[in-house]
Parts: sequence; C-alpha cells; structure tokens
Amino acid sequence: MIDANGTIYQDLTHILVTREEIAEKVRELGQQITKDYAGKEPVMICILKGAVVFFSDLVREIDLPMTLEFMSISSYGSATKTSGVVKLVKDLDNDVLNKDVIIVEDIVDSGVTLNYLKNMLGQRGAASIRLVTLLDKPARRRVPDLKVDYSCFNIPDEFVVGYGLDYDQKYRNLPDIGVLSPRIYEK
Ligand code: IMP
Ligand code: MG
Repeated sequence: MIDANGTIYQDLTHILVTREEIAEKVRELGQQITKDYAGKEPVMICILKGAVVFFSDLVREIDLPMTLEFMSISSYGSATKTSGVVKLVKDLDNDVLNKDVIIVEDIVDSGVTLNYLKNMLGQRGAASIRLVTLLDKPARRRVPDLKVDYSCFNIPDEFVVGYGLDYDQKYRNLPDIGVLSPRIYEK
C-alpha cells in the first residue's frame, strides 16, 4: 500500500484522518447499522464517485442481507466551492419503492446534494431513508434542517482529499485523508 512518504502525499499540507482511524470508525459504524437494521434488508446506495472507497469498506462491516446500488450526481465542477446546482448523472438501476434505503456519501458540505437526493428518493416511495457520511463539515451547512443519521468524523472547513475524495478527479486513491495544499488549487 502507498505510504505517507508517497509521491501524491507531497501535495498535502498534513494528514487529517489516518487509515487506522478510518478503519476503526467504519467498523463501529458497520456494527451500529447491523443492530439498527436487524430483521431488515437495506438498499445501500453509494454516491459516486467520492463515496466508493468508504462504501466498499462499510458494506463489508455490516452483517445483514442487503443490495447495493450506485448513483452519480454532481454539484461540483473542478472548483473547491459548491455550485449549488445538483445534476443527476447516473440513476439507480432498481426502484426503491417500500425499501429501507441507506444513502452513503463521502462528505456533507453545504448539504445541498444530500437534501436533493433525500427528497427525490422520498418522492419515489422509499419506506425509510437514512443518511450516512464519512465526513461532515458542519461550518458550511446551507440546509440547516438536514438530518445526517450517521457520521464518522466532523472536520474543519478545509479542502480535503483521499479515501475517495478528489480534487479535479485526483487523489481518490490516497489511503488516508489529508488537507490539500492550497498551492495546488491556487495556481
Ligand atoms: P454539498 O452538496 O455541498 O454538501 O457537497 C457535497 C459534495 O461536495 C461531496 O460529495 C464532495 O464531492 C464535494 N466536496 C465537498 N467538500 C469537499 C472536500 O473538502 N474535498 C473534496 N470534495 C468535497
Ligand atoms: Mg467530489
């Protein structure tokens, strides 16, 4: 595995959450969801592309029958600030009518993306919808009443990459989460 002296780490100012810290939280979260959904068969929805690494680790920590779905939406261009406009890029393959849905996101920032998704799946008749996020930046919320049901780490208002999160589609393969050096996006 790539270590913290690797080439791509040179674009970070520092590591914010280590792979060990992530693994521990993901394990705890998996156990919690296993308890909370006992007797159910949730539909786990991965929001591409950012959540894919987290999602693949999380589903393997949940001891329940489940199905996996993938959806792609974008509210970001290559900039580090949200555009506020959400676009559905890839829809689900199967409908969610009467299903217990768990939406898995990489990070909640303004909350616009998850709010849009939650409303959309609610209109399609899901029996229940809960939101899971790896990271939360509460300082940047623009949808104050958005309820995030499970969150692994609250982080400060800094632009982070790694463990699925990108800048301009890069850095998703970093095993840890780090703060991107401003010189990368200011040039
Ligand atoms: P929201 O709609 O503003 O909550 O934006 C959520 C989306 O913005 C996430 O799914 C990420 O793709 C992206 N995003 C927000 N903050 C960051 C960050 O610090 N690094 C990488 N992507 C981010
Ligand atoms: Mg992104």
